[in-house]
Amino acid sequence: MKRDFEFFNPTQVFFGRSAMENLGAVLSQYGDRVLLAYGGGSIRENGIYDQVMEVLRACGKTVTEFSGILPNPTYAKALEGGALARACQADLILAVGGGSVIDCAKAVAIAAVEEGDLWNKYWEGKQPLDCVPLPVGAILTMVGTGSEMDGDSVLTNEETKRKTSCWDYAIYPQFAILNPEFTFSVPEYQMVSGIFDTLSHIMEIYLSPEDEDNISDDFAEALMRSILRNTPVAIANPRDYVARSNLMWASSLALSGILAPSKQEDWEVHQIQHQIAAYYPSAHGMGLAAVSPAYYRLVCPHGLPRFRRFAVNVWGVDPAGKSDREVALAGIDAMAAFIRDSRMTPNLRALGILDESRLAEIAATCNLRRGGYYTLTREDVLQVLRESF
Ligand code: NZQ
Ligand code: ZN
Repeated sequence: MKRDFEFFNPTQVFFGRSAMENLGAVLSQYGDRVLLAYGGGSIRENGIYDQVMEVLRACGKTVTEFSGILPNPTYAKALEGGALARACQADLILAVGGGSVIDCAKAVAIAAVEEGDLWNKYWEGKQPLDCVPLPVGAILTMVGTGSEMDGDSVLTNEETKRKTSCWDYAIYPQFAILNPEFTFSVPEYQMVSGIFDTLSHIMEIYLSPEDEDNISDDFAEALMRSILRNTPVAIANPRDYVARSNLMWASSLALSGILAPSKQEDWEVHQIQHQIAAYYPSAHGMGLAAVSPAYYRLVCPHGLPRFRRFAVNVWGVDPAGKSDREVALAGIDAMAAFIRDSRMTPNLRALGILDESRLAEIAATCNLRRGGYYTLTREDVLQVLRESF
């Protein structure tokens, strides 16, 4: 571990079929007024809403509902939630949903206690919070983002056409209820989108310096192999508890901080996806899948030993008789095949982007990060987008 690091994850996790049995006890640690945040209504259809409300009622909580949080949540929606949280004097924001609902709930927790231009201060400005947000609890219904156990709140500003995140320890959920059975009703499209999101989080960290012997990389390889094993099982039988539980915990671990020690981390694929979604609202993981093969083919020559190791240890490429470059590229080909075989979106057309007219704008507004083996230029981003088309 060449680089010094800090590790802290404050989220208390209750995992498994009986996880909800802990909700009552954990709720008793907070005041009586709960803002219940959820999305477009899937929790009403699959019965999770009723289960949560039953516990809230049994605990004597006063519940105010904040619903209609759409995928790719907006800054405007978060401000609406902040105003509602202030009006009902919420003591806790309880998010029930996927990454969009949890991310929005974190932003609501901030907007409840601070007014003004939060977007330019915390999202674009990346300033540390100078307020104490309301506590957030998460009941996860869709796997992939890791939001249930991290400090990111990713929002879209529709006025400026920018999608970006605010990160702070203060907005980690204080507790997370993770019942894999709650994910059984997720449609296949969303399930595989979330799976690629998890894989992408791990690759963003693993496919970056430092390259010394590092426990983080061993963990990352184990998680990726687990995802590759469990994905076809979950596609064949979405109610396979073991597969869904492994995919769920892999997702939470991926962004929990446990893979990060001594790594620089890349995150350029995410920067590109965020701007794609700012222009073309679309499933996050599917956007990542559409651009990853082209991105990694471009970056691979700058980190060849790592990409070779990735090919052999994760994708099972046989290196015999091949140059390092051939092995590395075979690994990326295997990733592209996994994307196709798992019915993820292999390119931007499949994501629903039918003409190339806005790719230059996306490239021009995308953040350029310096964490990976190579820092892209705007021309490189445009090349990745064109090759992904
Ligand atoms: O709106 P509801 O009714 O909740 O329906 C959702 C939504 O339509 C549905 N769904 C969720 N659980 C379900 C279900 N449908 C049936 N049964 C269930 N059990 O699935 C759809 C997608 O949900 P969403 O929350 O949008 O998906 P996801 O979890 O992929 O979240 C994506 C958002 O998270 C951000 C993304 O950019 C995107 O905005 N991210 C957040 C991160 C973080 N906080 O660390 C990191 C990620 O890299 C990512 O950027
Ligand atoms: Zn992601």
